[in-house]
Amino acid sequence: MSMAMSEPGPTAATSGLEGVIAATTTLSKVDGTNGRLTYRGYNIYDLAQTTTFEEVAHLLWFGHLPNRKQLTRLMARFAAERSIPNNVMQIIRALPTSTEPMDALRTAVSAWGAGAISGKPTIDQAIALTARFPLFLAAFERTRQGHEPLQPQPKLGLAANFLFLLTGEVPKDEHVKGLNSYLVLLADHGMNASTFTARIVASTESDIVSAVVAAIGALKGPLHGGAPSKVQDMLRAIGTVENAAPWLRAAIARGERLMGFGHRVYKTEDPRSVALREMARVTDPQGFLLARHVEELALELLQQQKPGRRIYTNVEYYFATMMGSLGLSGDLFTPTFAVSRCAGWTAHILEQIHNNRLIRPDAEYTGTAEQRFIPLEKRP
Ligand SMILES: CC(C)(COP(=O)(O)OP(=O)(O)OC[C@H]1O[C@@H](n2cnc3c(N)ncnc32)[C@H](O)[C@@H]1OP(=O)(O)O)[C@@H](O)C(=O)NCCC(=O)NCCS
Repeated sequence: MSMAMSEPGPTAATSGLEGVIAATTTLSKVDGTNGRLTYRGYNIYDLAQTTTFEEVAHLLWFGHLPNRKQLTRLMARFAAERSIPNNVMQIIRALPTSTEPMDALRTAVSAWGAGAISGKPTIDQAIALTARFPLFLAAFERTRQGHEPLQPQPKLGLAANFLFLLTGEVPKDEHVKGLNSYLVLLADHGMNASTFTARIVASTESDIVSAVVAAIGALKGPLHGGAPSKVQDMLRAIGTVENAAPWLRAAIARGERLMGFGHRVYKTEDPRSVALREMARVTDPQGFLLARHVEELALELLQQQKPGRRIYTNVEYYFATMMGSLGLSGDLFTPTFAVSRCAGWTAHILEQIHNNRLIRPDAEYTGTAEQRFIPLEKRP
């Protein structure tokens, strides 16, 4: 692990590892100062508007966008992997209905890996895993709602299949487009906490499923991926445009963090939230009006509270608005993030093992200096 040029020397502990360069990658470039994000050099605006999630997964795994033939081949490989073994389905069915979907996903992925995966991580394994994320989640969602899990539709892509498996209805084009763009926008994002987690596990020469299960655990936390349902809770609690000012003022006065605001890397608008804002405007015009008002007011109040602080809306904020319009339960938002990020995690795992060295940083010891040992019977 090396330090960025402007950072303190390698012996100093950096809070939250901010500014520490932990790996080299050719997958995505996050430019937090200028609010730009590229995957292998392609701007995410172009990708989100014109490509499918499968094309972006191909870009991350194989290093280039697919031509039509390559895409057809990848889609066929995805379709061939769309099944849940009986033993994993039994485990999903046995989960209490109170289980959080992220926990259900983590459990299903781990159970599936126990029988299906061994050896060094491969692209085939990455495809097998990514194809199954929507299936595991939809099977759990259907089961907890008291319905039978559905069979995937071979002709639908990953985004459309996910919506179909959740609702039992062939989804509207604009909903598929909205979800697909979200999946494209979230697929990779530099050395975020869950990707770092996946790379650490991969660096020990563990298997791909263990690395992905660990990443799911990291993504679950509200400071990383667990915020969108909390954004929805916040917008519901605010309820009306009139209530926004008193609600936000009181929350800020209590020192609470506003969910969907702030980012470790972006010190300007998160380019993904800019793209999602436009989608939310189309998919949920009603919800958008409140969300936009709350956003503008919150940014103004946060500025007043501490002038010069650079806080902007993050990617979770408009995703919450957009997802609400798809009719999905709030607790499915973070697992949907995981569906997308599985492509990035697995691409990073493959990149890590390609030129591997065990990730093993140091800790700066700040405890007591060496002391004389006292046997149990003599301790005061
Ligand atoms: C994302 C997040 C964890 C980044 O944290 P970080 O890089 O460690 O930022 P810090 O905790 O150092 O915060 C810097 C300052 O901004 C403030 N701040 C950061 N996010 C804030 C928020 N959402 N609401 C209010 N204040 C916030 C902090 O209180 C701190 O203020 P201070 O300088 O007066 O102490 C943080 O912004 C956050 O908790 N956001 C809310 C949760 C969220 O939306 N998560 C999804 C992430 S995509």
